[in-house]
Amino acid sequence: MAIAKQLGRNPRSIAQEIVDRAPLAELNANLDIGGPGFINVRLDDNFLATALSQSTPSQPVKRAERIVVDYSSPNIAKELHVGHLRSTVIGDALVRLFEYVGHTVIRQNHVGDWGTAFGKLIAYVNADQDSHDLTIGGIEKLYVAASREFETNPDFAQIARNEVIKLQQQDPDTLKTWELIVQASLEDVQHIYSELDISLQLSDVRGESSYNSGLPSIVHDLENAGLIVESEGAKCVFVNGFQRKDGSPLPMIVQKSDGGYLYHTTDLAALKHRTQELGADRIIYLTDSRQIHHFQILFAVGKRVGYISEDISTEHLVFGSVLNKDGEPFRTRSGDNVLLRELIEEGFERALDIVRSKSEHLTNGEQQQVARQVAVGAIKYADLSKNRTNDYRFDWDVMLSLDGNTAPYLQYAHARICSIFTRAKKDMSKFLEGEIELQHPSERSLALRLLRFAETLEQCLDERKPHYLCNYLYELTVHFMRFYENCPVLKANTPQLMNSRLRLCAKTAQVLRVGLENLGISLPLRM
Ligand code: ARG
Repeated sequence: MAIAKQLGRNPRSIAQEIVDRAPLAELNANLDIGGPGFINVRLDDNFLATALSQSTPSQPVKRAERIVVDYSSPNIAKELHVGHLRSTVIGDALVRLFEYVGHTVIRQNHVGDWGTAFGKLIAYVNADQDSHDLTIGGIEKLYVAASREFETNPDFAQIARNEVIKLQQQDPDTLKTWELIVQASLEDVQHIYSELDISLQLSDVRGESSYNSGLPSIVHDLENAGLIVESEGAKCVFVNGFQRKDGSPLPMIVQKSDGGYLYHTTDLAALKHRTQELGADRIIYLTDSRQIHHFQILFAVGKRVGYISEDISTEHLVFGSVLNKDGEPFRTRSGDNVLLRELIEEGFERALDIVRSKSEHLTNGEQQQVARQVAVGAIKYADLSKNRTNDYRFDWDVMLSLDGNTAPYLQYAHARICSIFTRAKKDMSKFLEGEIELQHPSERSLALRLLRFAETLEQCLDERKPHYLCNYLYELTVHFMRFYENCPVLKANTPQLMNSRLRLCAKTAQVLRVGLENLGISLPLRM
């Protein structure tokens, strides 16, 4: 219809011309023109069946890129909370998906491990080395206590400020305590990652502190490019198009009058490292929308100073907020951030109740294992299945439901398929190839859905929006369930038909597994 408008012609006549000319003969498809000019294509059953029996879910991209993905990136010395959930979960799904289609991904966990907050912590820990719990969960309490001390005890506050200076001057004792805190904190973070099945490793951590020694050379680069303007003793970069509310030009401050560097400066150093050392073709950052402006100006300055050349793309991916089930900010009763550790624990308790009542045939140990997978799957899927840019409501009853667009629904369908093969004492992997016949309409619609996996993946990565894949997997499962209700598998009329249907089952399980595992969601074999 868009073409018709451009050409000023009747859309139906253009549709007719396309149908007449298109080389669709080998598809054996039935083509007709409907409505104001839609072309309906009805693929021939044999064509579909052959295409499906030859299909595999892997479709490598034509041009593989080196993609740096900066995600999760918490400020450490505070426990991971719900504010870190989306960057972590969406980032991890995207890196897995990018890798799956053949890109080289370099994960970067740009943790906030430097700055004034550490002064308080170091002073507090130094005051009494032994009595502190520098293990999981201990750091957060320490931070709260140190902040309280900072507010109420002027002597302590002075020591804390001093520690910041000593940290910048690389005082060995201060550095030692700092390292202790950072290490303990990172262990805590890694522990949560492994509970949540997040693929970030300790080796992916490249914290703000690691760029410290390179910061003077960043200012040098900017000076050499003639971009530095001194304003009230601070070194600033002005870029066209960035203004304050009152219309005056807004600078990016890269060095304060006291010589200190800023968040921007560190990010410029990280940018340089990623393009020049890591050889990135593409850099993706995931944070919430409060940092939109930071990244806009970062990319603009990065281009002017030559860190981002023409052929490198940079992108800041933002996401909506997590709300509670009444649509308010998701917080504890006392108004604190909900910790991911607590969220996982609550999810597990709830999932365990469900698994115990639904899956009595499993042993206690199996039930615990399944409950973990269900809880983590539910938390991640609830996030991933919503359009990334929208807010979403965190509601346990909805996300743990066995009915609807949820992880447990998909996990359950997958386990059901596995159980068909177990009952028949057949090896599912042997049914991924071989002839398929499509007799019943529900077999046909399942086949159509199965064949759309690759294009869904493409759309999902083109827009960096995992919800397309979630919606697809859900729809696939609905169609599988319909097929399963309508078409006896093990009791099919002929052995050929049984094998064909087992192949449809195996292919469905495979797509579910590839899809969910690349979203970071694991699948129990029995539920
Ligand atoms: N640590 C920052 C925060 O918690 C996020 C860092 C994002 N990545 C970056 N390169 N700036 O807000």
